[in-house]
Amino acid sequence: MLTERPRRLRENEAVRRLVRETRLSADSLIFPFFVREGNGVREDIPSLPGLTRYSPDTLPEGIEKALRAGVGRFLLFGIPARKDAEGSGAWAEGGVVQRAIRETRRRFPEALLISDVCLCEYTSHGHCGLVAGDRVDNDRTLPLIARTALSQAEAGADLVAPSDMMDGRVAAIRELLDRNGRETVPIMSYAVKYASAFYGPFREAADSAPGFGNRKGYQMDWHNLREAVREAKLDVREGADILIVKPAMGYLDVVSKVAETVEIPVAAYSVSGEYAMIRAAAEKGLLDCHAAMCESAAGVFRAGADILISYFAPELAAAIDKGDLG
Ligand code: PBG
Repeated sequence: MLTERPRRLRENEAVRRLVRETRLSADSLIFPFFVREGNGVREDIPSLPGLTRYSPDTLPEGIEKALRAGVGRFLLFGIPARKDAEGSGAWAEGGVVQRAIRETRRRFPEALLISDVCLCEYTSHGHCGLVAGDRVDNDRTLPLIARTALSQAEAGADLVAPSDMMDGRVAAIRELLDRNGRETVPIMSYAVKYASAFYGPFREAADSAPGFGNRKGYQMDWHNLREAVREAKLDVREGADILIVKPAMGYLDVVSKVAETVEIPVAAYSVSGEYAMIRAAAEKGLLDCHAAMCESAAGVFRAGADILISYFAPELAAAIDKGDLG
């Protein structure tokens, strides 16, 4: 006689749902947006099928649609009209993200706006910091990153999210925010960000591919896990409030380890390549888009993440609302 029959809990759908260990909430989702300098922009993003690039004046339309689907938290990436060696558009008072935040805030005060803090969309060479010779100068980049975060906070960003991967940037941002009366603005840092091939569609969408070389000098080597723990602890010590692990798929061991190690919330970023892969395979009839989306989202929470950043966020929120998560 068998005493253990795990299948007893599987055969009836109501029981199956009763005993689910992982439950998704739309409150845990963050939806990224790409905002381009200009007016009246509403363009399809070829590398991210189903997503639209807006300008600061049209972004509220996109936000409104997402809010209606049940998503209320947004991560903003800017694409400036002009780029330069320093990436000065990143901290310009009238910069594209700063304008986008002001426009959206006016129309939708309830939307939670998170700004990506990085220079790669703003620099002519496409690197995330100041370039000196053939490398990125960590320490000379720090004040620029901090300045960018402050200008976004002053425009009304609720949280700032540094993704540049310079050492010491969380402390630099915290210090400048605090000195300028922004001590209540949390930092959601990309503490653990690998030099991943899965950012390809993003770089197309944000026009931020490096003009020479790659980002392996500052983003992490995907062979490493202990280094992720080190990066996570460092950011906590420097004052980070929420940590991001990125990418998600292929890195769930990292999500799990970091979530066990730190005592602050952990977000997993399901990156552009993950989204594009599912979309492209579904387009070819190779897999069921809805099911694959739900399965990969559940995996992230099962691994221990508290938050999911995903290009599927509105579709996921709608699925959660309908109770249709596969
Ligand atoms: C900017 C940044 C990138 C992503 C988020 N912030 C690109 C990169 O590091 O090259 C990638 C996100 C995605 O692929 O969805 N540094």
